[in-house]
Amino acid sequence: MSSPAPRGETVRLEDYRPTDFVVHGVEMTVELFEGRAEIETTLSLSRRNGVPADAPLLLDGDELELTSLALDGETLSRSYYEADPSSLRVEGLPASGAFTLSIGTRIVPETNTKLMGLYRSRGVWCTQCEAEGFRRITYFLDRPDVLAPYTVRVEADRAAAPVLLSNGNPVEGGPLDGGRHYALWHDPHPKPSYLFALVAGDLDVLTDSFTTASGRPVDLAIYTEKGLASRAAYAMDAIKRSMRWDEERFGREYDLDVFNVVAISDFNMGAMENKGLNVFNHKYVLLDSDTATDTDYAGVETVIAHEYFHNWTGNRITCRDWFQLCLKEGLTVYRDQRFTADERSATVERIGSVRGLKAHQFPEDQGPLQHPVRPREYKEINNFYTATVYNKGAELCRMIHTILGADGFKKGMDLYFERHDGEAATIEDFVRSFEDATGEDLQQFSLWYNQAGTPTLAVEERFDEGAGRLTLSLVQSLQPGAADTGTEPFHIPVRFGLVGPNGADMEPAAVSGAEVRGDVIHLRKARESVVFEGLGARPAVSILRDFSAPVTLEMRQSEDDALALSRLDPNLFNRWRVLTDLVGRALTAGVAAARRGTDVTFDPKLVEAILASVGDETLEPAFRAQILQLPSESEIGRMVGSDVDPAAVHAARESTRRRIGADGAELFAKLSEAGRPSGAFSPDADSAGRRALANTALDLLTAASGDLTAAERRFRDADNMTDRLAGLSILVNQFAGSAEAGAALDAFFRRFEDDDLVLDKWFALQAGVPDEGTVERVAGLARHPRFNLANPNRARSLFGSFASANPLAFNRADGAGQRLVAEVLLDLDRLNPQVSARIATTFRSWKTLEPRRREKAREALTWLAGRPGLSTDLSDIVERTLR
Ligand code: PHE
Ligand code: ZN
Repeated sequence: MSSPAPRGETVRLEDYRPTDFVVHGVEMTVELFEGRAEIETTLSLSRRNGVPADAPLLLDGDELELTSLALDGETLSRSYYEADPSSLRVEGLPASGAFTLSIGTRIVPETNTKLMGLYRSRGVWCTQCEAEGFRRITYFLDRPDVLAPYTVRVEADRAAAPVLLSNGNPVEGGPLDGGRHYALWHDPHPKPSYLFALVAGDLDVLTDSFTTASGRPVDLAIYTEKGLASRAAYAMDAIKRSMRWDEERFGREYDLDVFNVVAISDFNMGAMENKGLNVFNHKYVLLDSDTATDTDYAGVETVIAHEYFHNWTGNRITCRDWFQLCLKEGLTVYRDQRFTADERSATVERIGSVRGLKAHQFPEDQGPLQHPVRPREYKEINNFYTATVYNKGAELCRMIHTILGADGFKKGMDLYFERHDGEAATIEDFVRSFEDATGEDLQQFSLWYNQAGTPTLAVEERFDEGAGRLTLSLVQSLQPGAADTGTEPFHIPVRFGLVGPNGADMEPAAVSGAEVRGDVIHLRKARESVVFEGLGARPAVSILRDFSAPVTLEMRQSEDDALALSRLDPNLFNRWRVLTDLVGRALTAGVAAARRGTDVTFDPKLVEAILASVGDETLEPAFRAQILQLPSESEIGRMVGSDVDPAAVHAARESTRRRIGADGAELFAKLSEAGRPSGAFSPDADSAGRRALANTALDLLTAASGDLTAAERRFRDADNMTDRLAGLSILVNQFAGSAEAGAALDAFFRRFEDDDLVLDKWFALQAGVPDEGTVERVAGLARHPRFNLANPNRARSLFGSFASANPLAFNRADGAGQRLVAEVLLDLDRLNPQVSARIATTFRSWKTLEPRRREKAREALTWLAGRPGLSTDLSDIVERTLR
């Protein structure tokens, strides 16, 4: 790893070794012009102790042009170096002591459609360097274990770019000849190159301030395109709440004089945590009630918090190498989830996170793209910003918390910060901090980082009435999968409760068998039992509370117990979980019935239990809305597991919706109107929950009645985007092709024509219509004047939504849907490989389809794999998916 691996070659964790040279400081001057940027980078370097005196310096590059090279200020003779667009090799450097190397490079931001490195988005110059974008700006040791302080001078035309930003604190600025000006920035905190950022443009700004717990004043600013700064108010509030929360919950203060956020229209991901200068996809900054939904508000809050929290988990302590990506991402997702739990509702947050995990991470972990939370090898690191690294990574942090308890977890985190501040760390460092702080042995637990796959946890209960003795037997198993990383038993923390007839948790007189601490069973072997003695009555077993481990739970609990838990369990998460499991079972049976052509039936007791919870006014509206949200068609497909017929899945889900809608008509009619928040719009969690419940109720009510008037009214009279889009989506999804749906879509388009973020919703909504004709409509929308494949949000809104949220049309039996996506991926790959590779992952469940559709998917993928000149990003995904 000390020599850069050529693109597309496998990089292995076991090959890690430190660089031959140490970088002590980086000074850059970036001159921006129309059509080009000139960059001069001066590196202060020294040879690491013990490295042979004749070892050359090998720097990474990517599509670079070298314009000058000097050693200690003297131009280097050609015989001392070799440069090509992707590397720079320098010989004859000093055997010992410090020296400087000054590197001139020239790039063209305007033609950078990959949106990695320095590019222009609607005239704004901006950068994206994670994971390997810095090498598209200058030659560098572009890897996360090379940390240095940076001083950056930015120069540009004052009219084109009155705002000039980089990392750290502003030092000075001023005018230059010819209408140009400059700004000088200094970042004193040593950082890896992937956290470098630069932004220049004609931007509006919203400012505010924050004083840290120890009294440091911080200037806050959010920069937006012209005229949009007022839409950053909610994001600004979220920044301040995040800063306070990290002080209170994790004892972490901000450490610079300024914290800047920039909202950019063309961005590959959600946002980026560059030190002191977070760059965001504008979708996660800009909001107002007229253009953004409650889900958008929650998304902004989460992403703002996530990027801010990276300041400590990612920036102050970074990753030694990209195999350790979950060290920053899993931990930071865990932290943003905890923030959301505190700011909104812990139960609703947990339900949302578990839903997301099951919808995205489980299929990844159970399919061809399977990899451990800490991968051992990669061909293209961009393809490892996955649900497994992020979301399962977060689950592992949560399990450490469950195993150690709140105090132990806090001690471990504090020790981690104390030991590794300013360093590039590993998962071993992280785990050892918890072990050393608490004395707990986490070696078996560490298997979770290295073994891929979702383990199954089977639980059986036996109650001996006479003796008052309950025996739980727990069996864990792991099927070998695509990653082939072993199947040793994990340390699984199983949170549980024994719910008595009155709804309170029962206290057994004695417990024996597997280790139980408090309300957690520590399962370490493949099979273990726990015996609870002295129970006065048979309890209903509430297992895996709060989803205490990312497993597939198999428990043949009696329906009576499950229904009792749905009413009584003090753990609200599990009330949701038991109902969802029953619904899942009913839906899979329904799919089988639909395939046979028989009627899909639904247990009336289950409908009754659902309606009882939904109608329970003592529960939060957002929680009740979650109970009413059936699993998506993709999620049902995953539950079915193999030989999936998306048409049968659709039929079963629709008939269940109609059934629930009909049985609950009276309740839903009430909730859909009277349950809505009154007065002026507010995005707070409670109001959002009320809208979610009212709109879900309206959706089901309409599904049962077939009458579109109420949905039309919701659309027409809405004073906010949540209600407007809810009404529109009912019309478009349930009444596809009707005059009313068409008129509403047109009205929506005309009203929001100039607003890209709203237009994305317009495209996404149509791409998701569960109708086979959607294939042709999506192909037509791709020719719409407002469609633009080069804008990642737009590409994702049409094709990402189609391929991920519309299994019926995407997997149409004649293969036209998959073929359409494959062809677009090829075009997109030429522009932006990272985004094409990401959308290509939507093929990951193709092997679970019924034979005919499976064959069509194979054809589309094989066709794509055979196109010449695919990027390493896309070919890596396609090849692994086919394998
Ligand atoms: N590190 C970013 C985050 O999770 C994600 C990201 C990765 C953004 C790669 C851009 C490129 O916060
Ligand atoms: Zn992150």
